Amino acid sequence: MDTRAIGIFDSGIGGLTVLKELEECMPEENFIYLGDTLHFPYGDKTREEIIQFSRNNIEYLIRQNVKMIVIACGTATSQALTVMEELFDIPIIGIIEPTVNYVESLPLKKIGVIATTGTIKSGAWEKSLKQKIPDIKVVNKACPLLASIAEEGKAKSKESLDAIHQYMEIFKENKVNTLILGCTHYPIYDEIIQNEFSGRVTLINTGVAVAQKVKEYLQQKHIQNSEPKKQSKIVISKEEKDFDKKAKNILKCAKKLDITYFY
Ligand code: DGL
Repeated sequence: MDTRAIGIFDSGIGGLTVLKELEECMPEENFIYLGDTLHFPYGDKTREEIIQFSRNNIEYLIRQNVKMIVIACGTATSQALTVMEELFDIPIIGIIEPTVNYVESLPLKKIGVIATTGTIKSGAWEKSLKQKIPDIKVVNKACPLLASIAEEGKAKSKESLDAIHQYMEIFKENKVNTLILGCTHYPIYDEIIQNEFSGRVTLINTGVAVAQKVKEYLQQKHIQNSEPKKQSKIVISKEEKDFDKKAKNILKCAKKLDITYFY
C-alpha cells in the first residue's frame, strides 16, 4: 500500500482529459496535476526544449513526493519519454504504449492519428502502431491550431469548426473511421469531430487506456492508496485566464478545484 499521489503533467489543460479518466478509474487514488502553462504550447517546440520541460516537470512532481508519473501529453511522450525513463528511477507512463496495446485488440486495417506538429513529425505513433500491428495503414495529420484554441477556451468557436473541417478531410478521403486523439487536448473536441463525420467515426481517447494501465501497475506492485482520498491538486506554472472554469468543464466537476498558480 502506498498513500502517495500519482503525478501527472501536460503543457496546459489538455492532460486534464487524462486526469478525468484516472479519477474515474481509480476513485481511491490521490493525484497532483501540473499544467506547464508557462511553456505552452509544446507542439511547436524543439525536442531539446520538450526534454528540458519534461525533466523540470518530473523533478517538480518528485519533490511533491509522488509514487509514479503519468506524462499526459502526446508531444512529451513522443519526444521525451525514453530520455526520462533513463534519467529517473520513478515509474513513468506515457500515452502512446497503452493506447497502441488497446488498438492491437481491435480488428483494424487502417487508423488515423491526429496530434501536434511535434508529435506527428516524431513518427512515434506510426512506429509504435506498426511494431505491434505490422500490416496496419496509418494516416497521420498534424492539427497545429487545436491545442491553442482549446487552451484559449474557444473549442466551440467558428475557428475551431473550420479548422476541424479542414483537418478531417484527409480521413474522409482515405475512408478512415477510427481516429486516435494523439494529443490530450483533443478529447475536448470529441463532439465536434463526431459531428464532422455525422457520428460515423470511433474516437480513441488515450486517457482511457492510460488509466487502465496505471491501475494494473498499482495492483501488480501492491501500491494502491489505502487511506481516505484527498481532492486532486492542480498546479500551473503561469496564471491563465479562466483556467478554473475550463478545468471544471473538462473534469465535469461542480465543486471548487484546488488550483495553485506558481511553482
Ligand atoms: N496536450 C499536449 C499533447 O498531448 C500538448 C499540446 C501542446 O502543448 O501543443 O500533445
